Amino acid sequence: MIRRAVLLGTGSALPSRVVSNSELAETVDTSDEWIVERTGIRQRHIAADGETTSTLATDAARKALAAASVAPEEIGLIILATATPDQTFPASATLVQAALGINDCIAFDVAAVCSGFLYALSVADSMIRGGAADKAIVIGSETFSRILDWDDRGTCVLFGDGAGAVVLSPAAPGEPSIIDFCNLTDGTGGPSLQMPAGGSRMPASHETVDQGLHFVKQDGSAVFKFAVRMTQEISVRILERNNLTGADLDLFVSHQANRRIIEAAAQRLGLPEDKVIINLERYGNTTAGTIPLALEDARRQGKLKKGDLVLLASVGAGFTVGSMLLRWSL
Ligand code: ACO
Repeated sequence: MIRRAVLLGTGSALPSRVVSNSELAETVDTSDEWIVERTGIRQRHIAADGETTSTLATDAARKALAAASVAPEEIGLIILATATPDQTFPASATLVQAALGINDCIAFDVAAVCSGFLYALSVADSMIRGGAADKAIVIGSETFSRILDWDDRGTCVLFGDGAGAVVLSPAAPGEPSIIDFCNLTDGTGGPSLQMPAGGSRMPASHETVDQGLHFVKQDGSAVFKFAVRMTQEISVRILERNNLTGADLDLFVSHQANRRIIEAAAQRLGLPEDKVIINLERYGNTTAGTIPLALEDARRQGKLKKGDLVLLASVGAGFTVGSMLLRWSL
């Protein structure tokens, strides 16, 4: 009997400070019109001093536990997807574990950038299926504001901070659950989107700081082209291998980087507007946080009901590509 994972509850956390496009235009050469037209983003949340990836993650995890009516001591596995951990090590998942008062479960980070949440969810599903864990928390949490060059208009307008979490357990027979996932990576894409310094290849030094090499560097058009092509390709691939088409879907939840990337994929899948969730206008690209934040918003907007067929898809730095099909269980 195959045990697939089922979602028991969701939670999210956003910093209280909101920065509008117009506010950014006061410090960099950009405009609200340019950002809205090219990306769809209108504002983003930015972490305050003392707010970190792990504090946002802990907040989101607590809310997901409460929504699922699961006590922290029942959790056997915590996976935190992030590209902006509090520190290089220990893993930020261990900080979340300690903050939740759990001291004997598996806890580790997954680094797959914008595909991080889907990669972490597929690892949790596999571990639950294999019997390594029972109840699990999967979190996507980011504070990209800490690694952005606020003078680089090509990147600083795109990202925001935030976190989303889900609680999982093995599905009972016949219960709606995760159906399939399909992930792939093209490691030749690394130079297109990266933070060059601060790791073992280019350790932090006065020179690396002077040159701004601890900030996000991006070839926006290369990332855009890859994301448009692969969001569509991975979506079609997972549908086809499950003998499904876009017409079978109730909701398409894409990574939220750019409205044009999502609309191109929705068009290829033949999806009307009401079967797609776009919330990047309020949050920007929260990297590993976008998909759980979009699931929460879709639920609040009444776009999700129990048994709905949902397709999740993402493209991120690496390049990493992720997709998942599930039956909504809440
Ligand atoms: N405000 C005003 N002008 C800008 C800004 C800005 N914030 N940013 C760039 N420009 C300028 C450029 O300098 C360029 O000027 P030039 O022609 O004088 O050189 C002009 O606008 C056009 O630049 P393009 O890069 O061609 O603009 P494009 O329409 O491709 O949009 C964007 C740029 C929004 C970055 C787009 O390429 C994109 O969304 N790429 C994907 C990036 C992304 O989402 N990365 C996140 C992580 S990966 C992921 O999530 C998939």
